[in-house]
Amino acid sequence: MSPELVTEAAALIRAADALVIAAGAGMGVDSGLPDFRGNEGFWNAYPPFRHLGLKFTDLANPGWFQADPPLAWGFYGHRYNLYRRTQPHAGFQILRQWAAAKPAGYFVFTSNVDGHFQRAGFAEDRVLECHGSIHRWQCVDEANGRIWPADQAEVSVDETTMRATGELPRDPVSGKLARPNILMFGDTGWNRRVQDQQQARYTQWLDALAGRRLVVIELGAGTAVPSVRHHAEFLVNHLAAKLIRLNLREAQVPAGQIGLAGGALAGLTAIQQALAELLLKSKLGN
Ligand SMILES: NC(=O)c1ccc[n+]([C@@H]2O[C@H](COP(=O)([O-])OP(=O)(O)OC[C@H]3O[C@@H](n4cnc5c(N)ncnc54)[C@H](O)[C@@H]3O)[C@@H](O)[C@H]2O)c1
Repeated sequence: MSPELVTEAAALIRAADALVIAAGAGMGVDSGLPDFRGNEGFWNAYPPFRHLGLKFTDLANPGWFQADPPLAWGFYGHRYNLYRRTQPHAGFQILRQWAAAKPAGYFVFTSNVDGHFQRAGFAEDRVLECHGSIHRWQCVDEANGRIWPADQAEVSVDETTMRATGELPRDPVSGKLARPNILMFGDTGWNRRVQDQQQARYTQWLDALAGRRLVVIELGAGTAVPSVRHHAEFLVNHLAAKLIRLNLREAQVPAGQIGLAGGALAGLTAIQQALAELLLKSKLGN
């Protein structure tokens, strides 16, 4: 990670009026969560699916909840358990500190379904989960039905087969089979009500930013499912935002933006350090 670019990033964050924190799967890697990059990455994290020849894009499909519910809940139940028991890494607190200091505030735009921004203390009404959350459940195939908070301690999964065992999660009111309120591939049954509310709050916040300096710090967002990267670049192109992209393997950026090749936690720590140095310099200069 070039020290000059790190210092440039720190100067941008210092001067920003408002911050968008845009995160993909790589943000969770330093907390100990796998990303799904490539089939090998996915199969290394979930070996039983290698034997079944099932890729992430095959499994993240609502059809399994009809065709083979224990398989569907094996995949999502395992993730639910893992995301619940894992603590967000220290980089989340660095971001919180920066966000709290911004006069025009912040918003989180994440494709992660792990709920780790809220878990780390970010306000629920400042988060847009563009692919939903594993901590909210809905009925299978009820795009307009109820959504409820998942409060089950864990979903029982046999990790040798990756199949859910015992009772599968159900709607406590209707008794129908539940599924996570996550947007899957080819998903016509996703209930997008919560996401629509999050989107409305976000749009309202962005609309009020006219003339303010907006910085996007994007962390661990990949090119395979590019929703987060596209959104960060949309803010650059349409709201004159400056982009700081922190990514282990895919840190390339459009001209004039900052790309830092490295891990999220290491990058955030380095920028935090550079910010402290900038502050010290400005104090000594006075
Ligand atoms: N924790 C979660 O909720 C979670 C986990 C895996 C995948 N997903 C979702 O599934 C979809 C596909 O996932 P994917 O794995 O293909 O995501 P992805 O395409 O976003 O790939 C991960 C990206 O993170 C980068 N990366 C890896 N480790 C990093 C680190 N320590 N620091 C910074 N960057 C790092 C990689 O270079 C890559 O660009 C996305 O929508 C993603 O959000 C969510």
